[in-house]
Amino acid sequence: GHGRRPLVAGNWKMNGLRKSVSVVESVRARLTPDLTDRIDVLICPPSTLIASCVAAAYGSPIAIGGQNLHAKASGAFTGSISAEMLSDLGARYVIVGHSERRAYHHETDDGVHAKALAARRAGLCGIICVGETQEEREEGRTLDIVRAQLAIGVPKGATATDTVIAYEPVWAIGTGLTPTPADIAEVHASLREMLTSLIGPEAARVRILYGGSVKPGNARELMSVENVDGALVGGASLVAEDFLGIAQAY
Ligand code: G3P
Repeated sequence: GHGRRPLVAGNWKMNGLRKSVSVVESVRARLTPDLTDRIDVLICPPSTLIASCVAAAYGSPIAIGGQNLHAKASGAFTGSISAEMLSDLGARYVIVGHSERRAYHHETDDGVHAKALAARRAGLCGIICVGETQEEREEGRTLDIVRAQLAIGVPKGATATDTVIAYEPVWAIGTGLTPTPADIAEVHASLREMLTSLIGPEAARVRILYGGSVKPGNARELMSVENVDGALVGGASLVAEDFLGIAQAY
């Protein structure tokens, strides 16, 4: 086998008040050793809840991560949060270049590269997101787009320890639409190949997640696609039962 340990990650986006920490508690209570022996589980709450989610997950196999970071370690950047700050809170991962950050906060591939380097500097694992828009897919540009995002975004010397890739087609996010397994297989194979040309044999160890409308009902089909090493889950990660249902696809 390829030896890649699946990662099921939840991205809460801008959702969750203090009471939502109970989602971490119920996931924790219902995750079985049988499952966590096989997969890694990650929850990325909003920054305001990272500390309390880290506390709720303490001593369990659940990792907590950030949704974004600033590339600098510190300084006059009002409202921003650095990789060092996330790490100091006990976060172990951080999402980098989510399509919502690209669309609403004008994040570029060069910016993604800088943030991925910052994540590594602080000992975090960066989850670098790539994905085409509906228009780009219709124009047949999907592979060109995601390969370019990867080529610019992934730092030299990236390893499976400090880097995860997430393929999230923009048109599949929050829409209930998903690509076909064949489409996902094509993109993931192409990403794996690109990654090999960027970082060499280490590419075989790097996890490539699929994200976009992953639900308990489609997780098994999506997660069984070749080169899909887990899921990045939005909406369904807000409900413990749904998130667990997805994790149990493994
Ligand atoms: O980062 C995960 C996300 O963009 C997918 O969202 O709600 O379609 O699962 P959703």
